[in-house]
Amino acid sequence: MSLSSILDEFKNTRLKKEEIDPNRKLKVGIIGTGWIADAHINSYKKQPDVEIVALADLIPGKADAFKAKWNLEGARTYMSGDELIDNEPGIDAVSVCTYNCQHAEPTIYALNHGVNVLLEKPMCVTLDEAVAICRAEKASGKVLSIGFQPRFDENMKMIKRIVESGTLGKIYYIQTGGGRRRGIPTPFGTSFIAKDTGGIGALGDIGCYSLDMVMNAIGYPKPITVSGYKSAYFGTNPKYMPCKEYAEAFGVDDFAAGFVRLEGGIVLDFRIAWAMHLDTPGDTIIMGTEGSLRIPSTDCWNGSVGGAMTIYHDLCGTQTQTTVPILHTGADLFDLKIRSFLDAVKKGTPAPVPSSQIIYNQAILDGICRSAELGHEIEIEIPEI
Ligand SMILES: NC(=O)c1ccc[n+]([C@@H]2O[C@H](COP(=O)([O-])OP(=O)(O)OC[C@H]3O[C@@H](n4cnc5c(N)ncnc54)[C@H](O)[C@@H]3O)[C@@H](O)[C@H]2O)c1
Repeated sequence: MSLSSILDEFKNTRLKKEEIDPNRKLKVGIIGTGWIADAHINSYKKQPDVEIVALADLIPGKADAFKAKWNLEGARTYMSGDELIDNEPGIDAVSVCTYNCQHAEPTIYALNHGVNVLLEKPMCVTLDEAVAICRAEKASGKVLSIGFQPRFDENMKMIKRIVESGTLGKIYYIQTGGGRRRGIPTPFGTSFIAKDTGGIGALGDIGCYSLDMVMNAIGYPKPITVSGYKSAYFGTNPKYMPCKEYAEAFGVDDFAAGFVRLEGGIVLDFRIAWAMHLDTPGDTIIMGTEGSLRIPSTDCWNGSVGGAMTIYHDLCGTQTQTTVPILHTGADLFDLKIRSFLDAVKKGTPAPVPSSQIIYNQAILDGICRSAELGHEIEIEIPEI
């Protein structure tokens, strides 16, 4: 039995007992009131069955300013995630919207106190942290969903449907990633680029999206080995940064690549860039024994597709290709992400984006970093949860 099915089975048994009265409003808090918290609150405010009861941020006055900006009169404000959890015994759920290095600690604290968690992507910084999060989740029996909103995009669902339909046959090779010619995120300070807050750079900010797109499509097979590379030639060079201080603060990767062997005889070739002297490091391609899929690359703000997709296959002995047009539904992916999490909490159903999958995403990010530091290929070992 796989790690993912054991965890899901365990959670299903536990969760069924904890269904919440559907007529009661859910009490929700937000930990970390920075940039992405705006997207969370915007979606929570559209949900009739949610009451925002608490906000927390380490920076003095930031949670209060957020409260005023979004007219959250009844919400209490705190200086940390732990303080919020300690003082809100009746709270049902929190969104953890802190920078990457502060994903694990508040998430584990909330789960240990019986609070459901919607955790922003990437899951965390290291595989060790991901394992600790999964263990806390398992012990709590609560819902933990990871904030990959592209999962709710119809084009992403189409990629998965194409793979699952068998049109491509057995998948044996995948190339994915993407990036930007210039796009190191600094508009809100240094929290994405400093080692002690971001922890990882392009890898965690946008690489995790590309990995989720293809790994989800093929059913999240376990990663076995990885040969990784990372560099920071742009972020550390003042010529490419808004100011000298940001170049000095830069402590993460702005480019990373990995060659990953997955269970089932699949090879995954990955590269991701926040900055480069190139338009794109390549489209995503999924190669199979009966057909291959090309997904035009994007600048990876949000993991979506960069244009119509193409399936290359043989028809009656002739090489041909089928265009898969872009699907536009107009749906707000953030609303869908928030709603799916709330529904799982209320109905006691499994998390829409479960940690049992995303731990493999994190294992690849972690493996690329460790392999790059060691300078050779490594085995990926994921301890029992
Ligand atoms: N899903 C998406 O589309 C998306 C988009 C942008 C960012 N993100 C993710 O959201 C996270 C936050 O990004 P951001 O741009 O909002 O960063 P940010 O730096 O603007 O905000 C993070 C806030 O968290 C606070 N904080 C840190 N640790 C805390 C703690 N323990 N308790 C309370 N507050 C704490 C910081 O003081 C800061 O104000 C990142 O992990 C990022 O990858 C996701």
